[in-house]
Amino acid sequence: MSTSCGKTKLNASDPVLAKLLLVDDDSIFRNLTARNFRRRAYCVYEAATGIEALAMAEKHEIDVVILDVSMPGMNGFEVLLRLKETNSDAEVIMLTGDTTAKTAVGAIKLGAIDYINKPVEMNELVLVVEKACEAGRLRKENRRLKSILKRNTQEFSMIGKSKPMQEVFRLIERAGPTDTPILIQGESGTGKELVARALHNTSLVADKPIVTINCATLSESLLESELFGHEKGAFTGAITAKEGLFEVADGGTLFIDEIGEMAGSLQAKLLRVLQDGSLRRVGSVKERNVNVRIICATNRNMRQEVTEGRFREDLFYRIDVMTLKVPPLRERQGDLPLLVQHFAGDGWEVSVDAMEALAACTWPGNIRQLMNAIERAKILADDNIIHLENLPPTLSSIGFEPPPPNNQLSVDGQSKLSTLQRDYIISIMRQNGGNKARSARVLGISRRTLYRLLERHAIPLNDREYQPAEQY
Ligand SMILES: Nc1ncnc2c1ncn2[C@@H]1O[C@H](COP(=O)(O)OP(=O)(O)OP(=O)(O)O)[C@@H](O)[C@H]1O
Ligand SMILES: [Mg+2]
Repeated sequence: MSTSCGKTKLNASDPVLAKLLLVDDDSIFRNLTARNFRRRAYCVYEAATGIEALAMAEKHEIDVVILDVSMPGMNGFEVLLRLKETNSDAEVIMLTGDTTAKTAVGAIKLGAIDYINKPVEMNELVLVVEKACEAGRLRKENRRLKSILKRNTQEFSMIGKSKPMQEVFRLIERAGPTDTPILIQGESGTGKELVARALHNTSLVADKPIVTINCATLSESLLESELFGHEKGAFTGAITAKEGLFEVADGGTLFIDEIGEMAGSLQAKLLRVLQDGSLRRVGSVKERNVNVRIICATNRNMRQEVTEGRFREDLFYRIDVMTLKVPPLRERQGDLPLLVQHFAGDGWEVSVDAMEALAACTWPGNIRQLMNAIERAKILADDNIIHLENLPPTLSSIGFEPPPPNNQLSVDGQSKLSTLQRDYIISIMRQNGGNKARSARVLGISRRTLYRLLERHAIPLNDREYQPAEQY
């Protein structure tokens, strides 16, 4: 049986369209059809029986199977079922001998993408194969996009398509599955804790607990007994013995938040655990061994803390084997529309002027501040649209710089704002399937203004541009 792939007959520059598997016991039909598709730069495999077909589908990554229904031995329906069971990515086109609709419907129900009645009209078959290839490509592309989104939002629980955030995700993926201590550095509200969780979730100990402690919220003595545990009677109030968080996190991850706030005496004790993996509970002489992955976070510049003598240099090098910087929101303005939509939630829209005001903020409190502003606006909004007047009036005191009259705006600022406006209008047009009346209402502007803006930003007017691609 010929299993030759047409590829070898092609010049290197010819596009190999897709891999076909042709399954039919009729060798004359097979040869003719295979030759026809190879001429069109397809890579064609052939099989005369169902068993052969399944073996080939397993071996090669087939895009489209052309499958005869009536074959001796295993018939086409059985082959189709087996293919679907093995989660094959191949699209299957059935060749049906009888013209009854029942057979065809049965094939589609079992997962075939299309069917053709015999005798086969070659041009029709070519068209159907092309369509199936395209459907397969779309399905794969869809799956790829979905998996990226899922990975970002589920595994990382983080939104961000901007370059700086993609870099953060890349580092998480690389550093997560190691046992290296990591120092997460970033301003307040940038998502340091989320990054710590993402690192743990992608780590080799993801099935073990991640335990968090915040050095800024506990007194020195409390922090010590929380971290290292204590024996009964170690201090007033220690009525029972208690294991410390290092012991609780044993085998997993300990996330030490605001490490820059840790007192000097505790720094020494922490250094010892990191150096030889052993600790003593407060009031105990017994050494206990722990094996914990350490992730620290800080909003301070730790190098400067070291230089100015507030943080031990030796400890700094222990916890800062790798630094992961989480960028402030103002350095990833491109994420703003996504974040706003995410926090607003399904069924909520944001008017253009509100979006412009949000984009003009410098957000010293970063994502948390943005989240709070949106939550507040949602309470005040009465039509599922967040308008400018629903945003906190204090935006000005938290970094809102009212845009100067147009002629005073710097060229750079103007173009940034303009890109943002363009992106936002396109996203609203998409959400409304290109319907301009609805989009204008959502944007809080007149239809005439919308037309003017579409023209100014060279945004397509035709609503077909905004219809979602067909789903397969
Ligand atoms: N990329 C993001 N996508 C979605 N939500 C985010 C993102 N980053 C942060 N958040 C949300 O913003 C809030 C603040 O995040 P987080 O607590 O991780 O910040 P932080 O840097 O630890 O802040 P702080 O320094 O104040 O402790 C959280 O509610 C978090 O869920
Ligand atoms: Mg935090």
